[in-house]
Amino acid sequence: MRLTCTVNGSAQQVDDVWEGESLLYVLRERMGLPGSKNACEQGECGSCTVYLDGVPVCSCLVAAGQAEGRAIGTVEGMGSEETLHPVQQAFLDAGAVQCGFCTPGLLVATDDLVTRSLAAGAPPADAEIREALAGNLCRCTGYEKILDAVKLAAQRMAAPTTGAPR
Ligand code: FES
Ligand code: FES
Repeated sequence: MRLTCTVNGSAQQVDDVWEGESLLYVLRERMGLPGSKNACEQGECGSCTVYLDGVPVCSCLVAAGQAEGRAIGTVEGMGSEETLHPVQQAFLDAGAVQCGFCTPGLLVATDDLVTRSLAAGAPPADAEIREALAGNLCRCTGYEKILDAVKLAAQRMAAPTTGAPR
């Protein structure tokens, strides 16, 4: 099939896609966007999290055919090499990145949580952070620094800023 969708705000068209292959495979292997990571391919780890029409999903569980006509946002759409997204900067500043394999998924999930929480009028509470990120596994950090990073990001994003493309 020919897959037509929007990725990080740009129209994309990819030919010879098997509609049953995963969106994660399409992003990484056909579109040259390796930011989303493939750790379990079973919806268990969250390392492949992307936005699909503004909602975070495990891209390893989304069939390419389901992405037809949809808007996808990946970690590559967050910030730039020159100017990091506030969530990216907060993860760096809080020391929440070690091997980095979980980080792209956590960045997308954190951006979603913080954006939703602030839109509702308050930064996320600790319990909300733990619940929202429960599907994003990290083998390295012990999660405390990730918690710090999310709170730091929320603090910084409380000031007007630009979120990731959804
Ligand atoms: S690679 Fe998709 S959830 Fe683990
Ligand atoms: S930093 Fe290594 S898995 Fe999270």
